[in-house]
Amino acid sequence: PTPDLWRRVDAYLTDTLVGHDPALETAVADQHAAGLPPIEVAPVNGKFLHLLARIAGARRVLEIGTLGAYSTIWLARGIPEDGVVVTIEAEPDNAAVARSNLDRAGIGHKVDIRVGRAEQVLPTLAGEGSFDLVFIDADKESNTIYLDWAARLGHPGTVVVVDNIGRGGEVANPATMNPQVIGTQRALELLGRDPRFDATALQTLDLKGWDGVAIAIVV
Ligand code: DHB
Ligand code: MG
Repeated sequence: PTPDLWRRVDAYLTDTLVGHDPALETAVADQHAAGLPPIEVAPVNGKFLHLLARIAGARRVLEIGTLGAYSTIWLARGIPEDGVVVTIEAEPDNAAVARSNLDRAGIGHKVDIRVGRAEQVLPTLAGEGSFDLVFIDADKESNTIYLDWAARLGHPGTVVVVDNIGRGGEVANPATMNPQVIGTQRALELLGRDPRFDATALQTLDLKGWDGVAIAIVV
């Protein structure tokens, strides 16, 4: 399909199934105005995460990579009032944008932003209670480290989602020199061989282009 056609399909699906949402649209507009990169998940993808949280009955969600909290809002709306999304963000400026977006969306009380590099923050979460759903969407080079922590901080049945596993087809290039793609290839290989996970992945075509998500369960 041409970009024109798949964007038209994405717009159709978004209009038909997601609809308009002022809190989410303002969050994205503010994030872009603040100069954060426009790499938040597509609306259809955000709703997918939201539905997964509900299907899993998740009460405690871990997100690695907050950016402006667009996906965080979707996840927080999918958990009960007494649930929590712990979301890790390396950039303090991004975390400030995220905090204001979360509070304006009316779900700030359900979200705990931890500012710092995820590799340093994740060990501090051990012992706080396990997570029912983990969404990994940060620096792709560290994806295997994040998956290892997802298994440790999860429990049998924890749902794990890894964003950006397709990368315009580059993921299937064994000679790729792109460190982000290499990090994602290592993550997919880990999901395929590590007995702590059972996993699959789906290619996606949406307004961000040709990419994909991996989904796994902690065994
Ligand atoms: C990039 C990162 C993402 O998480 C994403 O969804 C799209 C792009 C990036 O770093 O380019
Ligand atoms: Mg992403």
